[in-house]
Amino acid sequence: MNAYNPRDHYFKKAKEQNFAARSVFKLEEIDAKFHVVKSGMRVLDLGASPGSWSQYCAKKIGPKGVILGIDLKPVTVKLDNATFIQADLRDLQLDEVILSHGFDPVFDLVISDMAPNTTGIRLTDQARSFELCELALQVADRFLRAKGDFVCKFFHSDDFTKLRDLMKTKYEKVEIVKPDSTRKISKEIFLIGLRKKTGPSFLLEKKGAEELNRPKEPHEDHESKGLNQSPGEKTSDKENSSDPMNTSHEMNSSNAINSSNAMKKGQE
Ligand SMILES: C[S@@+](CC[C@H](N)C(=O)[O-])C[C@H]1O[C@@H](n2cnc3c(N)ncnc32)[C@H](O)[C@@H]1O
Repeated sequence: MNAYNPRDHYFKKAKEQNFAARSVFKLEEIDAKFHVVKSGMRVLDLGASPGSWSQYCAKKIGPKGVILGIDLKPVTVKLDNATFIQADLRDLQLDEVILSHGFDPVFDLVISDMAPNTTGIRLTDQARSFELCELALQVADRFLRAKGDFVCKFFHSDDFTKLRDLMKTKYEKVEIVKPDSTRKISKEIFLIGLRKKTGPSFLLEKKGAEELNRPKEPHEDHESKGLNQSPGEKTSDKENSSDPMNTSHEMNSSNAINSSNAMKKGQE
């Protein structure tokens, strides 16, 4: 029988290894399959409390990497390369938090283990989980670099196909995992978006805002700036070199850092 046992094998294993939660083994399993966490990475951890995913990432990214973790609840683990913000992601001005804490607004990996407080009403819990996934996906749209990876927990429901298909438009490959360490009775699965197709839209928003605020030369033709161009549209080589939707991570980062004067953190 699959009786729910909160102090199961993985709970004990997490305790023995000083991890804040058994959830760590889910990320460990995902990482073993898809190699999403790497040395020196900038990681955005959504739903970070009590902190086991951040603990796992902190060790793998090493001192040159950085983590920004967000959760409604406090994160009590202390990690040299992580900053935790206690907030509701639905209300948070994440761009302001990122810049005011000195983070580069371009992340290499976005992970979301966010889960709603369950009500016991299946449809409500599933709908809330879907909303959190949509939110995490929007955050990744804004702050995850091109070719970056995205990991997201989802309570399985009829919205699964919608979420998977949406992710397929944004990532080169979408994988579905139900880790062994997930309790057998649990409906949770993880969607892994591998290699994001476009750059972080935050840089485009920022570039657009700067362009709007910049004093204009009388002869300037605003239409020709290409700010509204979609990533696939043709641009000249010169425009390409500063187009935040298509440039490399380094180029994206430095554009934003230079223009915002945000402190460099975790940048090599
Ligand atoms: C399963 S726990 C995450 C465990 C964590 N990954 C770890 O390894 O320690 C899910 C978390 O999502 C958080 N969460 C749910 N909704 C949220 C929201 N709107 N904003 C921020 N955090 C949220 C909850 O507070 C909870 O701590």
